[in-house]
Amino acid sequence: MKAHLYVTTAFTALALAAASALPATTFAADGAPLLAGRVVSSTGEPLAGIPVKAHRDGSPITVAVYTDAKGEYTFPAWSAVAPGAYSVGIELPDFRHVAQPVAVSAGKTAKADFTLTAKPLAYEDATASEIIAGLPGTDQQKVLFSQCSNCHTLQWALQAGRTKEDWIRVIKKMAGRAAEQETPGTYAFGQKQFVEPLAEYLTSIRGPDSSDNIPFKQRPRPTDAASANIVVTEYALPRGG
Ligand code: HEC
Repeated sequence: MKAHLYVTTAFTALALAAASALPATTFAADGAPLLAGRVVSSTGEPLAGIPVKAHRDGSPITVAVYTDAKGEYTFPAWSAVAPGAYSVGIELPDFRHVAQPVAVSAGKTAKADFTLTAKPLAYEDATASEIIAGLPGTDQQKVLFSQCSNCHTLQWALQAGRTKEDWIRVIKKMAGRAAEQETPGTYAFGQKQFVEPLAEYLTSIRGPDSSDNIPFKQRPRPTDAASANIVVTEYALPRGG
């Protein structure tokens, strides 16, 4: 079973811009987009809410926009996509990855269309919310356990089956000094009053004899305009220095 610690992944900084929230008048009048295209399924259906990423060769910047209900995407003229050589692609856990080189030049709209082949979402790629949704348990148990995803994946937390005593040890280690304290009215998993109930819950879903097959429930991708009409600019920050 694969498991990841978030702390081992490269640092990235994100800038989000809601395209609809920005008044059009603040942008240059020559609004023609430099890059646009369409994304369809292998049966030709338009796919909405799909992030399309444009990475300029040799640059630390990746810009993403999302497809609309017609499967169409556009990098607005004001986005960080400027003339140059790009790799444009789609990397989602439930589709085969695709990418193509695209030359973006001033004064015209470069086109890049994609056909995506769906594949089942793997457990390793499920989000914390998808795992929480698939597990049995009460809301309170789930609220406590979901906090284990604050620092690493839930896959990482559930990599091995453990006895209740072992779970208590793990929870106390994760909680640090908080495990000695009781603060009424909070639901922090590390509070003294929750260590035991959470250990019991974890033993029920991941005891010593439990199966490696942890259930999860794939969430639908947001596709409405309010969720998809955004531009995401990602900056890869080198480590060190
Ligand atoms: C404050 C950040 C943080 C939170 C919250 C957190 N962990 Fe961790 N966890 C870590 C770090 C860092 C490591 C790796 C270092 C280590 O093993 O001591 C780790 C490692 C682990 C490991 C593998 C190491 C071992 O001791 O066997 C398990 C299992 C684990 N966490 C479970 C949990 C569970 C269950 C929760 C929720 C109750 C949780 N974690 C919440 C930071 C956290």
